[in-house]
Parts: sequence; C-alpha cells; structure tokens
Amino acid sequence: MALFSVESVKFSSRTQDIIKGVSMEIEMGSVTGLLGRSGSGKSTLLKLVAGILVPTGGRVLFDGKDIQLMSNVENKTFRRRCSYVFQDSALWANQTIEQNLNLPLQTHNQSMSRDERSSRIRRMCEIVRFNRPLSLRPVDLSMGEQKRVAFARALINDPEVLFLDECTESLDQDGSDHILSLLVDFINSGKTVIYVSHRSEFIDIMNRSRNSRVYDIDAGFLRGADDYEI
Ligand SMILES: Nc1ncnc2c1ncn2[C@@H]1O[C@H](COP(=O)(O)OP(=O)(O)OP(=O)(O)O)[C@@H](O)[C@H]1O
Ligand SMILES: [Mg+2]
Repeated sequence: MALFSVESVKFSSRTQDIIKGVSMEIEMGSVTGLLGRSGSGKSTLLKLVAGILVPTGGRVLFDGKDIQLMSNVENKTFRRRCSYVFQDSALWANQTIEQNLNLPLQTHNQSMSRDERSSRIRRMCEIVRFNRPLSLRPVDLSMGEQKRVAFARALINDPEVLFLDECTESLDQDGSDHILSLLVDFINSGKTVIYVSHRSEFIDIMNRSRNSRVYDIDAGFLRGADDYEI
C-alpha cells in the first residue's frame, strides 16, 4: 500500500479552480518533487497532500486512511509522523525562537522533561547551524535564518515524512549546501520527502536518490515529468 494516495483531488477558492483533479501515489522512502511555474498550484497541492488544506473534491489517504476522516488520535499520530517546512517559514510571530521550537515537543513529546526539551532545542539549532540567541523573535531574523529555524522545527520530533516548500530559498550557498546534506542523510535513512523547488541544484541532488520522481504541475493539472531536464 502506498504511504499517500492522492485520489482525484481538487481545490477551488471562491474565485478560481486551483487544483483541477490530481491523482498520484507516494511510496514510503521515496522522494517526490512537485515542479512548475509560479502560480501553477505547487504549494496548494503540497498542503493538500499534507492535510493542511481540505480538498474541495477527491481525497488523500495516508496509510490507507482518509486524512479528513481521521479521529483526533489518528490525526495527532499523522501530524507527529509528518513535518512541514512552509515557503514563508510560518514561525509564530509573537513567540521567541525557543518557544517556536518548544511547541512541537510539548505537543508530541509530553513525557520529555523541561531540561530534555531544552537540550533537544539546542542540539537542533546546532544541527541546522542557527547560532543567534533563542530569546529573539522571528521578526528579528533574516529570511534565511527563519528558514533554518523552520527546518529545525520540522526535524525536532524525528519525523518519518518531510514536506518541503522551497526550503532552501533565501539561504546562501553554504546554508543551502548544509541543509541539502541534512536532507540527503534523512533520505538515506529510508525516510520520505515530498518537495517543491525551483532550484535546479536542489532538484538534481534529490533526483540522485533511489526511488525519486518528479511531477510537473501545470495550471492545476499534473503531468508526469520523469524526463525533466534541468
Ligand atoms: N487559499 C487561497 N485562496 C485563494 N487563492 C489561492 C489560495 N492559495 C493559493 N491561491 C491561488 O492559487 C494559485 C496557485 O497558488 P500556489 O501558491 O499554490 O502556487 P505556487 O505554484 O506554489 O507558486 P510559487 O512558485 O509562486 O510559490 C495562485 O493563483 C494563488 O493566487
Ligand atoms: Mg509556492
């Protein structure tokens, strides 16, 4: 059984049809890229697969279960197993960086002591090479620094699946190379990645992994693009 089954998914806003009937299967341990021009619906589709947006037609199954029909307990397990790096980072503006990183631990790792949480947060910041004070708020950080924190937040509960929306955008070359090397380790440990990217270097490295596949999103429709040329 596929990890995710996307079945004839549609998404319309009040004013337009954004995703117009997309079906695909995502296997555990695979790397799936959603490519396409700006405004084609990549971020919308990624959020639909991740259960963040509710389809206006069709359904998305995770482990055979319709995400929108999960019980609260099933949904919480689903959310612990899957993490998301948003295109705009989407950190809580009124919380410090420490509080931003604490929140997923408090939600999904309630048995952890305060000290354990604190050391996990510090360790994650080292891993993503974020070295500014944790008492700062997102507004005090550059976009690239916010991306590092968003990445740390996504990894902090040791997820099985990562959704990445332009996760190296706004990072400099060093920062981008470093995040890519963390991602390659993540993929090599058998985990699942579903990503959106414009960067050919990023797509190229993702495509080197076993079991990788890219799709071209074109005006809300999906075209298989395994022959994608960078
Ligand atoms: N919640 C929403 N309500 C109304 N319209 C939306 C919503 N989300 C996205 N759109 C519209 O849907 C279209 C696709 O947006 P989306 O953000 O998915 O594109 P994208 O492919 O990720 O673009 P980019 O590469 O610029 O990030 C755009 O025309 C956008 O204005
Ligand atoms: Mg987008």
